[in-house]
Amino acid sequence: MTNRIGDKAQLFDALYTSNDMYFGREARPEFSRLIDTIDIRCFHSLDLGCGQGRYAIYLAERGSAVHAVDFSSVGIEKLSLYAKTQQLNISTEHADLTNYQFPIGEYDLVVFATVLDHLDFDGRQHVIRGITSSLKPGALFYGNVFTKEDPGFISKSKGLWQQECVSAAGIAIEHYFDSNELWNCFSPHEILDYKEFKEEDCSHGTDHWHGWAYIIGRKVE
Ligand SMILES: C[S@@+](CC[C@H](N)C(=O)[O-])C[C@H]1O[C@@H](n2cnc3c(N)ncnc32)[C@H](O)[C@@H]1O
Repeated sequence: MTNRIGDKAQLFDALYTSNDMYFGREARPEFSRLIDTIDIRCFHSLDLGCGQGRYAIYLAERGSAVHAVDFSSVGIEKLSLYAKTQQLNISTEHADLTNYQFPIGEYDLVVFATVLDHLDFDGRQHVIRGITSSLKPGALFYGNVFTKEDPGFISKSKGLWQQECVSAAGIAIEHYFDSNELWNCFSPHEILDYKEFKEEDCSHGTDHWHGWAYIIGRKVE
């Protein structure tokens, strides 16, 4: 890993060392609504930028086999230990997504929760291509990102980032998405649900809010 990537991985290592589940235990509501309407017991799912694994755990508890990838060795170790003690079908991998070798047509579901916004342009293009190539035809994807409505973007654009950092993890954000940008990244596919919104976040640090976009889609065959 390059130094810059290594520094970011260390930031997440520190956050995950000091907290049991830094981003909370709950998956986002639109994700749980999606998963709770389908039978995922035969699913093979991929969780990209899994962190401490709240999405991977949610899926495995409902019967999916899950492969979870992150460049934070602490996140990966903690998730691996949790999966072992809870006997969940989760395999883990410590890897940098910006040069990850994605498999072809292997997964029924790919999750990328707050990770595309942590990557630079080339990294995002690599991962977006990887998400779609690793899905089986007709398979599902779910992702979310921070948008330019986020206070982190507003502070950054005013040069106030250091003084007004809204969350310790916020400093790792590489790119805040424009309106419709996430949709456009996946527009060749069938978009089942897409939303941009602002919401309070009480899951870590002092209470703060975020500008979000999420997408749920299906790979066009
Ligand atoms: C905001 S956290 C989200 C974690 C998890 N998806 C969740 O929602 O709880 C972003 C995660 O992406 C991981 N990440 C960022 N850049 C990465 C990269 N280049 N390769 C692998 N993981 C990366 C970080 O280590 C971190 O765990």
